[in-house]
Amino acid sequence: MIHVSNICYTYPDGHKAIHDVSFSVQQGECIGIIGANGAGKSTLLKLLVGLYILKKGEIIIDNMPMSKQTLRHIRRIIGFTFQQADDQLFMPTVYDDVAFALRNDGMNEDEVKKRVTNSLKIVGAIHLVDRPPYRLSEGEKRLVTLATVLAMEPKILLMDEPTAALDPQARRTLIHLIQGLPHTKIVTTHDLDFVLECCERTIVLANGTIVYDGPTEAVLTNEPFLREHHLELPLMLQGRK
Ligand SMILES: Nc1ncnc2c1ncn2[C@@H]1O[C@H](COP(=O)(O)OP(=O)(O)OP(=O)(O)O)[C@@H](O)[C@H]1O
Ligand SMILES: [Mg+2]
Repeated sequence: MIHVSNICYTYPDGHKAIHDVSFSVQQGECIGIIGANGAGKSTLLKLLVGLYILKKGEIIIDNMPMSKQTLRHIRRIIGFTFQQADDQLFMPTVYDDVAFALRNDGMNEDEVKKRVTNSLKIVGAIHLVDRPPYRLSEGEKRLVTLATVLAMEPKILLMDEPTAALDPQARRTLIHLIQGLPHTKIVTTHDLDFVLECCERTIVLANGTIVYDGPTEAVLTNEPFLREHHLELPLMLQGRK
């Protein structure tokens, strides 16, 4: 579903954020990307949706090499939720935000209504439909951003810190929701318990490079390695009573 070969990215100010990163993702996999603040997790996801232009290397999505010509098509296949929900929500009501990309695609209003209602129901946010997004709590915004993406019916879901700012119950609901979604999924997070529960495979980024790519359990039980990369054992494995 995704092939990334030797990609590099340097921000316009000269900061090297991603260096020589390669990995492949099979259909239906759910992968956790973890690492310290500034490791390059958000940058990597943004490269996968073509928000930044690659300096070096290649990204192939669903057998299509990413280029100016294929970007429009690739953006229909990949849904991306931003780390900051405010980067994604900008319309006067939740309904309009979830409908935005569908209308942009020229979909008729009956179908738009069906998709908006359905995706808000899936994430448990239908009661927010008429609210202005900027007045929602961070957790509510997060659910709405996921609905905006699901409404497009993508094959791949990229989620940047989806459980941040969620209360324990909302977090639990989101975990069940994500586990139930059949999409190919890549999730960046500092919520290591989430990774342990939802992702069979984990990639650890450090200073823009991959330092681990393999089974989740093997890395999340390796305390010295985790400590070296500003991480720690998931609470579930800390033996707290
Ligand atoms: N627009 C930008 N211009 C210059 N440097 C940037 C920009 N955005 C991010 N960076 C730098 O790139 C590096 C990677 O940032 P990124 O946001 O990808 O990290 P992250 O792993 O997502 O961190 P966090 O866990 O805090 O979300 C950081 O050192 C950051 O300072
Ligand atoms: Mg980030």
